[in-house]
Amino acid sequence: MGKDVIIACDFDSAEKTFAFLDKFTGRKPFVKIGMELYYAEGPSIVREIKKRGHKIFLDLKLHDIPNTVKKSMAVLSRLDVDMTNLHASGTKRMMEAALEGLTRPDGTRPILIAVTQLTSTDQESMEKDLLIKEPIADVVMHYAQNAKEAGLDGVVCSPLEAGKVHDRCGTGFLTVTPGVRFADGDVGDQKRVMTPAEAKRIGSDYIVVGRPITAAADPVAAYERCVAEFVD
Ligand code: C5P
Repeated sequence: MGKDVIIACDFDSAEKTFAFLDKFTGRKPFVKIGMELYYAEGPSIVREIKKRGHKIFLDLKLHDIPNTVKKSMAVLSRLDVDMTNLHASGTKRMMEAALEGLTRPDGTRPILIAVTQLTSTDQESMEKDLLIKEPIADVVMHYAQNAKEAGLDGVVCSPLEAGKVHDRCGTGFLTVTPGVRFADGDVGDQKRVMTPAEAKRIGSDYIVVGRPITAAADPVAAYERCVAEFVD
C-alpha cells in the first residue's frame, strides 16, 4: 500500500458516522475506527463501513497477555480490516502472538502497527508513574525496534519522529502519524503538529487526520486538500 490519508472517524454513533461518510460521493477514503465508535456500535460498524468500500484502520490498541491478544486478533482479522494496532509495551512476545493470531489461513493479514509511548505521556509521567528513567525519545526508538524485531509492519508516531524511525528500522517500516494540521488551521489540543506537506517531506507513510476534516465546513474539500498536499 502506498501513501494515504486516513480520516479519524471519532464519532459516538453510526448515525453520525454515516452522515459524515455520505458526503463523500466520489472517493472512498481510508478511515480509522477508534475505541469510541467501536465500543458504541460494535463489530457491525466495521462490516458496514467495509461494505461501503472503505479501507479500515481499526485503532483498538490491544494490550493483554499474549494468548488473549492472539485470540482477539484472530477475531479482528476475520472482520477483514486493513490495519490494526497494539501497545509495544505489551512485550515482543505479545506482539509475536498478535501477528500469529492476525494471520488468516490463506497467509494474508491486516497491517499491524504498534503504539510506542502515547503522545500524552511525557518524560515526567514516564519516570514518576512508569518508573522508566531513559529519555523518552530513546524509549520510543527502542519500542519501535522491538516491534520491528517481532515482525510488525510499523508504528504510530509523531510526524516529528518518522524520520528517526525510518533511520533506525528501515524505510520499509511504516510510520503512521497523527497530529496533522493545515498551516492556516486550528491546532486544538495537539501539541506537536505538522502540515500534510511537511509530513510528506519527512517521510510519513500514512497521516491520520481527524478534526481538520471532520469539523471542517466542507469536509470533502478538506480531505482533498490533505490528499493534494500529502499524496499527489
Ligand atoms: O482530530 P485529530 O486530527 O487531532 O485526530 C487525531 C486522531 O489520531 C485521533 O483519533 C487521536 O486519538 C489519534 N491519535 C493521536 N495521537 C496519538 C495516537 C493517536 O492524536 N499519539
